[in-house]
Amino acid sequence: MSSPWIEGLRSVALYVPDLVKAEDFYTRTWRLDVAHRGENVLYLRGTGQDEYLLALHQGGEVPQVRQVTLRARHREALHVIQERVAAAGGTLITAVHELTRDPAGGAGLKFKDPDGRVFQVVHGDVRRSAAPPVKDKPIRLTHAVLNTHAVDETQVFLQETLGFRLADRTGIMAFMNCDRDHHTLALGISDNDALNHIAFLMPDADSVMRGADA
Ligand SMILES: [Fe+2]
Repeated sequence: MSSPWIEGLRSVALYVPDLVKAEDFYTRTWRLDVAHRGENVLYLRGTGQDEYLLALHQGGEVPQVRQVTLRARHREALHVIQERVAAAGGTLITAVHELTRDPAGGAGLKFKDPDGRVFQVVHGDVRRSAAPPVKDKPIRLTHAVLNTHAVDETQVFLQETLGFRLADRTGIMAFMNCDRDHHTLALGISDNDALNHIAFLMPDADSVMRGADA
């Protein structure tokens, strides 16, 4: 069960009401490291190969997801996905281009699904040599769960544009797979289209338990 085009989740970008408070939360509670700082944006990394896992943007009073960034298996996949967005009912925001203003670089495109969720797909972004795992520190992202008021339609959109497959379906969730993780995206069956949660891969079970406690 794997997507011909997507190898996994690279990062998630969030709008936060208070960037200073958010930095404190994600660095002290979640033990992420500051990778880059820009104007009104902060990039945070774990110990794995991804240049960053979270991009926090100064936003308004309500925290919101800005975009979910997936990594393509190869450059050609960006163009395949670009061709498929409109046919599946999505809207292209930016066509494939070099991401010169992104600290992780590479090339990418951005699009909305029919309900306005923003996805970015990148290829050729910076990969670091992974640091040894550190207790209580995230390694990488494993999945993002997106609420949806229209689970069947969202599932079909992810299948048609990104090649995801349905891994499991429960009464409250549709788990979507693109590679070796059981699910990289999941759809929380809900009355809204907000972000439900993101999950980090931790180095060991004790780190998971301490993270839950924190
Ligand atoms: Fe989860």
